[in-house]
Amino acid sequence: MAVKKDLLSVADLSRGEVEQLVEQALVMKQGEMRCLLPWRSVALLFEKPSLRTRVSFEIAVAQLGGHCVYLSPQEVGLGKREPVPDVARVLSRYVDCIVARVFSHQTLVSLAQSASVSVINALSNVEHPCQALADLLTIREKKGRIEGLRLAFVGDGNNVARSLALLSAMVGVEFAIASPGGYQLDEDTVKRARSFAAASGSKVVVTGDPAEAVRDADVVYTDAWASMGQEEEAGARHRAFEDYQVNGPLLSLAKQDVVFMHCLPAHHGEEVTSDVLNGPASIVFDQAENRLHIQKAVLAQILLAPD
Ligand code: CP
Ligand code: NVA
Repeated sequence: MAVKKDLLSVADLSRGEVEQLVEQALVMKQGEMRCLLPWRSVALLFEKPSLRTRVSFEIAVAQLGGHCVYLSPQEVGLGKREPVPDVARVLSRYVDCIVARVFSHQTLVSLAQSASVSVINALSNVEHPCQALADLLTIREKKGRIEGLRLAFVGDGNNVARSLALLSAMVGVEFAIASPGGYQLDEDTVKRARSFAAASGSKVVVTGDPAEAVRDADVVYTDAWASMGQEEEAGARHRAFEDYQVNGPLLSLAKQDVVFMHCLPAHHGEEVTSDVLNGPASIVFDQAENRLHIQKAVLAQILLAPD
């Protein structure tokens, strides 16, 4: 069995490992390196709904020669039907890896502490590392490079923004985020991202002004105003984010060859207008496809790690 290596945050990876994952995923996307993980089993333990993450992990594992067991929110009752550490210990007797989507990041930490197999974060309230890695792969493909680009995130300082901020800063992408008061990226993340940026020679800009963030950006990114689990806050969030929609006039402030990104699911006419989402700058479906390719690289890196 490979040595246990959890991926709860993008910060669990070094810059070298991230670059290697991106290059490996590009090779895998060409159809190379199939069946690297024959007979390996992966548990997909999901407390929240999913389209992309579930399907791309299931296909990724199948293409690598292994198989997945999907455990829906109703089945396991993490921490309700059974304590989280017990679930981790039981699953470790059956599978080689646990991919978990949870409400509380602490649940992931607890799974990782008790599991003897690797745990991968498939989204928590804190981070969405597989998404950010797929985004980096997509940027590398579309722009032909990574270092020195400027990524503007307009919207909530949420799980996706947090992973993107840390990863961008780590690999030398300037990260600018515009959020309304009360919804900014937390200070710890900004501090951490700035320390990565100092090492890579990039920059982290935090502003309340979408125009300031988007000006001269190579990539403009947004996500839902209310994330899964925040449905009751949707009304208040809609009012707070009214001026943070990515639309044609805002996008026109970016570089001429700007690309528009969204992790999806998107709310057409809310955080992004349909003309931008379906327009020539949009690469959102390439992004969605790349979840498959980067996750194959992640699984191979984690499950083939030498003892
Ligand atoms: N982007 C993303 O993680 O999508 P799902 O919630 O559908 O998995
Ligand atoms: N921020 C969103 C991302 C969905 C992929 C959420 O957590 O619901």
